This record gives sequence, C-alpha cells and structure tokens, in this order.
Amino acid sequence: MEFKDIVRNRRAIRQYEPRPVPEDVIQELLEIIRFSVSAMNLQPWKIKVVSDQETKEKAFAATFGLEQIRVCSHALILCADVDYPSIIARLERAMAAAGVPADRRESTVAFATQLTGDMTPDQRLAWSREQVHIALGNAVNGAYSLGLGACPMTAFDPTVLGRALGLPETLMPTAIVTVGYAAEEGAPKVRHPVSDILI
Ligand SMILES: Cc1cc2nc3c(=O)[nH]c(=O)nc-3n(C[C@H](O)[C@H](O)[C@H](O)COP(=O)(O)O)c2cc1C
Repeated sequence: MEFKDIVRNRRAIRQYEPRPVPEDVIQELLEIIRFSVSAMNLQPWKIKVVSDQETKEKAFAATFGLEQIRVCSHALILCADVDYPSIIARLERAMAAAGVPADRRESTVAFATQLTGDMTPDQRLAWSREQVHIALGNAVNGAYSLGLGACPMTAFDPTVLGRALGLPETLMPTAIVTVGYAAEEGAPKVRHPVSDILI
C-alpha cells in the first residue's frame, strides 16, 4: 500500500479479535517505530510491550476507562526518556558504530549536553514527550501497514501508570498504542481540507 493510502485509510481501532498478533509481527512494528525521526537524532523514547492480561489490567487501572487495553493483543507503552546523559552516551556509541567521524561525534555530544543541561527538568520532559509523539505517528500508521488495528491513547495518569508498571522515574509514559486484529471498521475519517489548515 502506498504511504498516502495508509494515512488516508487508517482509523483508530478500539475493538479487536481475540486472536493474538504473532510476536514477529510486533517485532516488525517495533522496527518501523525505531526508525522515527527525532531532534538531534537523540531518540529519547523507550517502549514497554505489554501482552499478558495481568499487566494489561494493571495498566487499565491507571487509565480513564480505556477498555481497549484489556482486549487488545499488545499494548505499547511509549515512554519519554529524560535520562539525557545516558541518551547522549548511547547516541555517541551508535554514531561510532556507524562510522561517524570523531570530530562530528564530539560536537554532537557537546551540543546535546549543553542544550539539555540548560533545560529545566520540565523542559526536558516536554522535549522528550514531543519526540515520542513522532514515534506514535509511525506506530499507528506502521500498525495499519502491517494489517493491524491500533489506537493511540493519552487518557491516563502518567505517574500512576509508570508506578503500576514499575518503570524508573526517568521514563514517563506518554502514549499508549493498543494493537490487535481489528474487530471493527473504526469511524469514518473527519479531516479539515488543506484550505482550512493554511494560514
Ligand atoms: C495523541 C492522541 C491521543 C489520543 N488519545 C485517545 C484516548 O485517550 N482514547 C481514545 O479512545 N482515543 C484516543 N485517540 C484517538 C483519536 O481520538 C483518533 O485518532 C481521532 O479521533 C481521529 O480518528 P482516526 O484515528 O480514526 O482518524 C488519541 C489520538 C492521539 C493522536
């Protein structure tokens, strides 16, 4: 399917067939997500994949009634990572492995360290959360491209959800994407025409 058809036809899917999505398909989805673009390529996200019912119920309890978590095959908990020293060090290692010259790596590390060091904790969290939403877009479109239904969701208390899942304080749940085989068509598309979004 062409990309333009994926974005036109994908719909939020909240009801799923009981059959689970095979793990290799979930891995393919994670492969799509990991290629998401991010500022300075810092990739400040971590994903918890939840497929067992007990953890789904725990996650559900931290939401404002998001029933789709209980009935989905897998729930991807997309978290904003704010541990910038680790994020920057990891990027440096990845750049080295990709053969990026030392001077470019050093300037990237210096700039990222300065930029994130000058931010308040709230600014760092907001910045990471912005990047997670880019990954969210790839997650829902990627799921559709693999023949899956998915629903992005933010109606939950991030702190309560993080505690319920035993996540470290440096990881803030930012969005949940429930995934499964669609058992509904989803609502027809309602989108503004280009003329309405131009200023
Ligand atoms: C950031 C974000 C948060 C959302 N949160 C929820 C949510 O908490 N619960 C829910 O049922 N749907 C949620 N949605 C799904 C939207 O309601 C849905 O994508 C929108 O109505 C457009 O419909 P479509 O995805 O079928 O095109 C969310 C979507 C996004 C992008």
